[in-house]
Amino acid sequence: MCGIIGISSNKPVSANIINSLKKLEYRGYDSAGIATLSNGEINEVKSEGRVDNLENNFDLKNLKGNIGIGHVRWATHGIPNSVNAHPHSSHNVSVVHNGIIENSTILKKYLINNGHIFKSQTDTEVIVHLITENLKTSELEEAITKTLKQLHGSFALGIVFKDKPDLIIGARRGSPLAVGYGPNENYLGSDSYALKSMTNKITYLDDGEFCVVKKDQVLFFNEQGIKVNKKILELSSNEASYDKGDYKHFMAKEIEEQPTTIKTGIKEYIDNFNKEINIINFPWEIEEIKSITLIGCGTAYHSCLMAKYWLEELTTLDVNIDIASEFRYRKNRFKKDNLYVFVSQSGETADTYAALDLCNKNSMKTCAVVNVIESSIARDSNFVLPIHCGPEIGVASTKAFLGQILVLYILVLKLGFLRNEISKSKYQKKIEDLKTLPVLIEKTLQHDNDIQAISSTFNDAKGSMFLGRGFSYPIALEGALKLKELSYVHAEGYPAGEMKHGPLALIEEGIPVVVLAPRDNYYKKTISNMQEVIARGAKVLLITNKSTDEVVSENIWETIEVENTNDDLLPFLLTIPLQKLAYYSALKKGYDIDKPRNLAKSVTVE
Ligand code: AGP
Repeated sequence: MCGIIGISSNKPVSANIINSLKKLEYRGYDSAGIATLSNGEINEVKSEGRVDNLENNFDLKNLKGNIGIGHVRWATHGIPNSVNAHPHSSHNVSVVHNGIIENSTILKKYLINNGHIFKSQTDTEVIVHLITENLKTSELEEAITKTLKQLHGSFALGIVFKDKPDLIIGARRGSPLAVGYGPNENYLGSDSYALKSMTNKITYLDDGEFCVVKKDQVLFFNEQGIKVNKKILELSSNEASYDKGDYKHFMAKEIEEQPTTIKTGIKEYIDNFNKEINIINFPWEIEEIKSITLIGCGTAYHSCLMAKYWLEELTTLDVNIDIASEFRYRKNRFKKDNLYVFVSQSGETADTYAALDLCNKNSMKTCAVVNVIESSIARDSNFVLPIHCGPEIGVASTKAFLGQILVLYILVLKLGFLRNEISKSKYQKKIEDLKTLPVLIEKTLQHDNDIQAISSTFNDAKGSMFLGRGFSYPIALEGALKLKELSYVHAEGYPAGEMKHGPLALIEEGIPVVVLAPRDNYYKKTISNMQEVIARGAKVLLITNKSTDEVVSENIWETIEVENTNDDLLPFLLTIPLQKLAYYSALKKGYDIDKPRNLAKSVTVE
C-alpha cells in the first residue's frame, strides 16, 4: 500500500525522507519518489522499484531543500513505472497521494479543456492540476478546501508549493494520515511507523480534515476550513521491533516471536492471582449482548471464523461472520443487541473500516481487535481489545493471527463465564490451560528441518489442498492463504467433508494435501477423508497431535505431531507448521518473503 512522508525543517530533509520511506516499505509498493523545494524550484526525483533504486539513480545527498515530500506507491491506476510514481508536479505544486480518486476521469477532461497537460496514467495527477487551477482564483486555504470538495473517493495527501517554501499541506479522507512533532521540524506520515524513528509525538487527522505543517507550527482545519484543535499522542517507542536482528526476514522473526507475543497477550488479560480474565471498562452489561457479528479481511477473517467455532462451542450466542468487503454492501439488518467485532492487524484496512463506519452510522455496539492501537479502526470503535504483538512488518500475517485468535478466545471465555454458560471450575481450568500455550508453541516451533524438507514438494506441484474439520477448518484456510501469498502457488483450504462434493476431482498422483486431524471430535471423520485422497494418489502431510494410539492409516507421505493440549488450543499449535511450510517454500523459490508481489501490509483502498 502507498506510504506518504513529508518534512518541514530548519535543515536539509532528503536523507530523513528516504529513511522514513524505508520504514514504510513494509506496506508493499512498486515505485518511489521524493520532491524538495529549494531556490524557488521543485526538485522531483522518482524511480520504479525499491527506494534503493532512487538512491542508486539519483545523487540524493545533493538534493537540496529544508522542506519535502516522499512516497512509496502501490499501483492502482497506471502501471508501476517512474512516470506514474509519485510525487506528481505541475509548475508550482507537487503532490503525494494514498487512496483512489473515483471521479478522476471527469476532472481530467475538465482540466485538459483548461489547458492542463498530463504526463501520467494516474488518478493522483488530477489533484495537482486541480489545485493549480484553483490557486488561479483563490488563496491557499480556500483553494485547498475547494479542491477537496471536488474530489470523490479516498485520499491521504502531502502537498508542497513552489511559492510557499515553508509549509506542507496534509489532507485526509478515508486513508490514514498523521502529523509528527520534532525539534525545529514537523512531519507528515501515513502512519506512526513512518514517523517513529523521528518522534513519538503524533496527531492523527480525522476524515475531512487538513493541516498546514511548518517547521515551527502545525495548524488543523475541518472541511469547512475552520481551525480545529487536535490532541497530541505520546506513542510507546519500541524501535527494537523494527530490527530483524539476526533473522533473514521479518517473517522468520515474527514466527519465532510467537511464544513471547502470546505470553504478553495472556499477561495483559489474565489476572493470575484471581484466576480471572480482565477486560477492563467493557462498556456494556452482558445482558445487552444477545448475538455477535465478527468482520475482517484475509487472515483477520480466518480469525473471525475461528472465534465463531469457539463461541458456538462455549456459549449459546448467535454468531455471524462476514468478509468486510461483502458486509459493507450487504443489506444488513442492524440489531441494537448485536455486538459487531472488527478484527484488523493494521486497523487501517479500508473495507474493514468502511464496515465499522456503517455500524457507527447505525449506532451499533462496536469492538475492535487490533494490533495498532492508534489506528483508525481502534480510534473509531466503542471499545478496543489490543493484541499486543508489537509491529508486524512481514506482509504475511503470522504473530498477529495468533494474537487475534488469542484475544478472541479470551473474549469468548469471558462472555461464556458472564453468561453462566461456562462454569467457574471449567473457566478457571481453561485459563490455566491457556497459560501453558507459550511453552507449547515454543516446542511446536522446533518442527523446522522436517518442514524445510517437505516444502519443495509444494513448490513443484501445480496446486495443493489444505483440509480440516471444525476447529481445524479455519486453520486450513489460513495455511492455504500463507502458501498462496508467499510462494505464489495455488493452494486451497477446504472443509475435509466437502471434498467428495467436487474438489476430489482435483486429486491426482502426487498432489500434496495437508490434512489437519488432531485427535478431537472430528478426528475419525477427517482420517476417513484423508484416506479418500490417499486412495487417489495424493501425497498427504498429516498434522496431528501427539498420542499413544497410532494413526490408523497407511501411505501417509509425512506426519507432523504438535504438542498435546485441550481441543480449544490445538488451532494455535496447528498453525505453526503451516506458517513454516509457507516460509520455507518461498525461501526455496528466492521470493521477497517480507514483501510478496502485488500485496500490501495494509490495504487502505477498497
Ligand atoms: C494475511 O497474511 C494478509 N497480509 C492479509 O490477508 C491481511 O490479513 C488482510 O489484508 C487484513 O489486514 P488487517 O488485519 O490489517 O486488516
